[in-house]
Amino acid sequence: MLRRSAAQCGVPATERRAGRLGVVRSREGIRRKPVGDIETFDDEMSKSPRSDVRVGRPEESVRAVGARVLSVLGRQSWLDRPGYRLEHTLGFALAACGGAGERTSNLLHGTWLGHPLHPLVVALPTGAVATTVALDVAAVLPGHQAGLREASRVSLGSGIVASLAAATTGLNDWQQTQEQSRRVGLVHGALNAVATALYVLSWCDRRRGRHVRGVAASAVGYGITAASGYLGASLVYRLGVGVDQSGVRWDTGEWTLLLAEAALEAGQPQRVEAAGVGLVLLRDGDDVLAVGELCPHLGAPIVDGWMDRGQLVCPWHGSRFDPVTGQVVRGPATAPLPCYQTRILAGTIEVRPGKPTGLRAATGAGE
Ligand code: FES
Repeated sequence: MLRRSAAQCGVPATERRAGRLGVVRSREGIRRKPVGDIETFDDEMSKSPRSDVRVGRPEESVRAVGARVLSVLGRQSWLDRPGYRLEHTLGFALAACGGAGERTSNLLHGTWLGHPLHPLVVALPTGAVATTVALDVAAVLPGHQAGLREASRVSLGSGIVASLAAATTGLNDWQQTQEQSRRVGLVHGALNAVATALYVLSWCDRRRGRHVRGVAASAVGYGITAASGYLGASLVYRLGVGVDQSGVRWDTGEWTLLLAEAALEAGQPQRVEAAGVGLVLLRDGDDVLAVGELCPHLGAPIVDGWMDRGQLVCPWHGSRFDPVTGQVVRGPATAPLPCYQTRILAGTIEVRPGKPTGLRAATGAGE
């Protein structure tokens, strides 16, 4: 992820390293745990000691086992080498396609949608294979056996095609994950690949008339898909991958004096606070812009970002934002960056919640 950004956006090596390791630095010392921190699992485990697994209620045991599985997977650092190789291959393939590669990547991330596309696409193969399993069960009952078998084969075929679409969007998102979430994501993808291979085997068996073997292969594949689905859900709901990480919005209040205009130099964004909410002020020519302090993708400190051709660039994975509207111009971010109104009054920069008017550095006239 980060290395592809380097090729495409010239992200400095130190910044890339900081992003990959989840070390957050800024001039004002922002402190933020990286998304998918292993401590998340450890905290979970400390609340569910092993003794509880033996004496607790069934749901406690399930939770503890789930947390332990994630903890173990998250620590498999040997997965990093194949992971980075795969990431580099994907990155180079997309970079080699130039603008078309960037548009494809944006399409697959879901920047046009406002949130990741992958969860929507995943519903297709899961539903199709679930239908196959249901039809297989129905085909055991007397009557319409041939029709049901044919329907389950067609349903399985659509599930296989949809699985490829889900794998494409998932791989594209996975490239920009970090540390533990990257390892869990790799296992999630590998399980899905095994399940899809079983579905293909099953489809071929059914076509050749080996129905029982075909049913067995798709049933085992569906079990693997369910286990993989647990990991996929954990990536989102427990590790925050794909969730808007831009943090708390400043949404109430009046014009607030934040900084002397002379203190804001071109090319040097500054972090300030309004009502306890972190903001970043930056100059773009004569304009003064105010945006949220954290990138919506994985929470990179925007204060370490920079302006390039009128777009604000995230320091970690090179997402680009329109600094006036906050809209994503290029992924992997999909959610917009919070933006605020600014004005300069008596040599001081004032900010208030609300959509920027487009007159970025208003003089205060008429206010
Ligand atoms: S943190 Fe990944 S693009 Fe900003």
